[in-house]
Amino acid sequence: MNLIKIFFTFLIFTVISCSNDNITRINSPDNKIDLTFKVENGHAFYKVEKENKSVTDWSRLGIKLEDGNDIGSNLKVLKVARESIQNKWYPFIGEKDEIEDNYNKLNINISKNNINYEIIFRVYNDGISFKYNVPSQEALSNYNIIDEYTEFNLSSKDTAWWIPGFSYRRYEFLYAKSSVDDISKEFFSKNVENISYDTIGIDAAHTPLTIKKDNGLIISIHEANLINYSSMTLAPKGNGLLEVELYPWSDGTKVKLDNKITSPWRFIQIADNSSKLLDSDIILNLNEDPDENQDFSWVKPGKYMGVWWEMIGTNESTWWQSQNHGANNNKVKYYLDFASKNNFNGLLVEGWNKGWHPEWCCSGNGDPFSFTESVNDFDINYLSSYGNSIGVNLVGHHETGGQIQNYENQLEDAFKLYNRIGVKNIKTGYVNDVSKNIKKINPEGTVSREWHHGQYMIDHFQKVIETAAKYKLNIIKHEPIKDTGLRRKYPNFISREGAKGQEFNGFSSNGVNHATDLPFTRLLSGPMDYTPGIFQLNNFRYVSPGSDEIDKNAIVPSTIAKELALYVVYYSPMQMAADLPKHYIKHPEAFEFIKSVPVEWSKKNVIDSKISEYVILSRKDKYSDDWYIGGITDEKERNFDIDLNFLEKNQKYKLIIYKDTKSTHWKSNPMEYEIEEKIIEIDSSSSIPIYMAPGGGFAIHIVKV
Ligand code: NOJ
Repeated sequence: MNLIKIFFTFLIFTVISCSNDNITRINSPDNKIDLTFKVENGHAFYKVEKENKSVTDWSRLGIKLEDGNDIGSNLKVLKVARESIQNKWYPFIGEKDEIEDNYNKLNINISKNNINYEIIFRVYNDGISFKYNVPSQEALSNYNIIDEYTEFNLSSKDTAWWIPGFSYRRYEFLYAKSSVDDISKEFFSKNVENISYDTIGIDAAHTPLTIKKDNGLIISIHEANLINYSSMTLAPKGNGLLEVELYPWSDGTKVKLDNKITSPWRFIQIADNSSKLLDSDIILNLNEDPDENQDFSWVKPGKYMGVWWEMIGTNESTWWQSQNHGANNNKVKYYLDFASKNNFNGLLVEGWNKGWHPEWCCSGNGDPFSFTESVNDFDINYLSSYGNSIGVNLVGHHETGGQIQNYENQLEDAFKLYNRIGVKNIKTGYVNDVSKNIKKINPEGTVSREWHHGQYMIDHFQKVIETAAKYKLNIIKHEPIKDTGLRRKYPNFISREGAKGQEFNGFSSNGVNHATDLPFTRLLSGPMDYTPGIFQLNNFRYVSPGSDEIDKNAIVPSTIAKELALYVVYYSPMQMAADLPKHYIKHPEAFEFIKSVPVEWSKKNVIDSKISEYVILSRKDKYSDDWYIGGITDEKERNFDIDLNFLEKNQKYKLIIYKDTKSTHWKSNPMEYEIEEKIIEIDSSSSIPIYMAPGGGFAIHIVKV
């Protein structure tokens, strides 16, 4: 059963024509964005403008194959075809209950000698996209890619928010802000974090890459539908030019393909301001519906707690068996009861399986984990059936340590086990530091080391998600490959990390300004398992498990009101309440918000924002008339009058407001908050004043009365 229904597809016109002058233009449906394509001196180029403001200048397109066939030069346009598409579709899990998919399409048929292929463009009101299609053909015997010529030709005056590619810690970095020309490990080392010792690989930024153009436009460059390919980074070439750099295999080939090339979509989200940037559906529109015969009706979003923060945050417990082993029967039963009493439907338990030991982390060579055998003090059958009986399913945990073959060998058995005992969601992990350190044992017995973001891993993640679907399991991926919108086709790809998340505040620090970078960068690509909801924001970490000495330096740079706001601002269909029961018990009123806030929404409305400084947005619950507002600020305190014009006029609403006080401060007084209730009848000028403390935020639950 296909739960995502196409409402209608309206083909306005289709014109097949031969191009006379090799220059072809196409507009967005609202005529504001223009894309021009040309072939000049045998090379293909495109350029993009929005209302006469440049998005990209002429930027090259094309591919070079491994066998020496350069299908990016000596090109000729054979045929140009246009279409206008109007679709509407209804994601069954998401931020909105209806998504418009309207675009103009341009298919360019191109030849290089006797090799034929297509470049397909789509122009939406919120951005442009293109992809390469090289069909199977007699003139080609090798489809492996050695280079993509794709460029995004910006200006040196454009400012980027970026994290470094080809670096040792995947995507878990704070964001650098610089000219697009300054994207480099050297800049990052001087200004954000020292990675200068990490010399393998080139200077490049991961995507989504957010850019404020000198002309005021805000854009984000990313890719969609990344399957059977390698992931794209953007390398600066000077004068504002960024070139696609694909993660190579260890033998240097970028992409290995059998008989055709279908690249992911390369796309640019284009917005007049930061709030519009946050309200785009282009990444999902560039992905496909589930296959007709695939039923995903079993995918259920929810909220979960975890035997987790006590290892990574408070440092009271260990993953491995010890006197302080977290995943023990008594502890887990206590958490299950607490989660059930407070209406959570999942409990993550890490450290339940064999293979954990104090040095488990990071080399990629360690003792292999078992994904079917539990440790002595964790009775998996009893705990899962007890949890199921009180409405809390265990959230499974597979930390692979990046040992891919070990995991793939156990995948079917591990998923069968979880399916049998009633697990619905699995958090997977791939901690394996050092840049190029994914061990692959080749059929002839040699060992190669692959990049975490190369095609080997893209193929692995695909295998995991498809196998999980077979066993009706959702995947929450940590150390994942970036989100490229595959959640549309595979709704069981329910959430992922893929940035510095809350956990880094446990064992190091993200600083106070990271939380307001994420909505404008990582979160543009999709849901994030950030793991919000820490209430004990200081004096929470023990110097070691078993010690009663507190690490006074450890702080989560936030406020309780801001932690609540994150449930509205950061979208995730599986959302964690990451702190410990003993810390929630101290703040029962604030905990009420976490218990009530939904994870499925029907509307999203960005009220106000400034890139990387603050954001305020509202969302409507999918299953009631309730609205929620969340607002977060960086280190600066701010005052706002929040416009309530998204609510129904002449209707009375009760507002339950969770906010910082005038003396709250992320560093010196983070846990002070107040709750105010008021009833408002909405007219055209209704608004409410709100104060956000330095590093703070607010959350509002709005109920019709
Ligand atoms: C890294 C994950 O991101 C974290 O959440 C997890 O606890 C550890 N790996 C152990 O698996």
